[in-house]
Amino acid sequence: MPDRYVIANWKMNLPPEGIDAYADALNRIEGGNARLVIAPPYPYIERVARRVRDGHGVAAQNCSDHDKGAFTGEVAPAMLREAGARFVILGHSERRAIFGETDGIVARKVTIALATSLTPILCIGENLRTRDAGNASRVLADQIRAAAEGLGSGAVILAYEPIWAIGTGRNASGTMVAETVGHIRDAMGRFWPQAAAKETPILYGGSVTPDNVAELVGHGHIDGFLVGGASLDSGKFAAIHRALA
Ligand code: PGA
Repeated sequence: MPDRYVIANWKMNLPPEGIDAYADALNRIEGGNARLVIAPPYPYIERVARRVRDGHGVAAQNCSDHDKGAFTGEVAPAMLREAGARFVILGHSERRAIFGETDGIVARKVTIALATSLTPILCIGENLRTRDAGNASRVLADQIRAAAEGLGSGAVILAYEPIWAIGTGRNASGTMVAETVGHIRDAMGRFWPQAAAKETPILYGGSVTPDNVAELVGHGHIDGFLVGGASLDSGKFAAIHRALA
């Protein structure tokens, strides 16, 4: 059985209740069988890592594809690890669409993150045109094949995030997610090492809220969630975590 995760992607936001109150609220959560991970903006990684209790994890939202050098504005994976991150979100659709990250760049980031002992949270997803044209499984398989180059024998967490569901309030139905997860496992089986294909957790992301989480847990065949908007409220994030139990 793959491990389970619920990951808070704050993006370029902070929780209105404050970072310390948010971390303390998560520290009070008892039980559940999914690991909680928080992905704050870079400058807050260290603070969150110091505040959250053992067992909860901290992720960076991105990293450089180089380990050091003249790359103004970039942050190396080793620096993120030193600040307390143990995970890194890679290939998020906002990075791909707004910052022009290609499959090749994402694969290089996967390699360097793994070499630094950061676990990549690798995001894949199709846009609406692709979904409507019936090409979603082919496009997702292409993204999985491209990541294989960076993967080697390393372990990642995969986040399936249909682009049309991110931040839009439109989320995929449980049965659509289950069907897509089947295609994703199939593509992993074709392109990834056997162990990775079986053991990689597959999370769903895209407008997940406490209101729609039960349907996704019940029918989605997923191992957790990558949550954006709803993760900025510790109460909502905790409710999503509880729903997975
Ligand atoms: P959302 O974001 O939950 O706000 O749709 C998810 C994500 O982009 O990871």
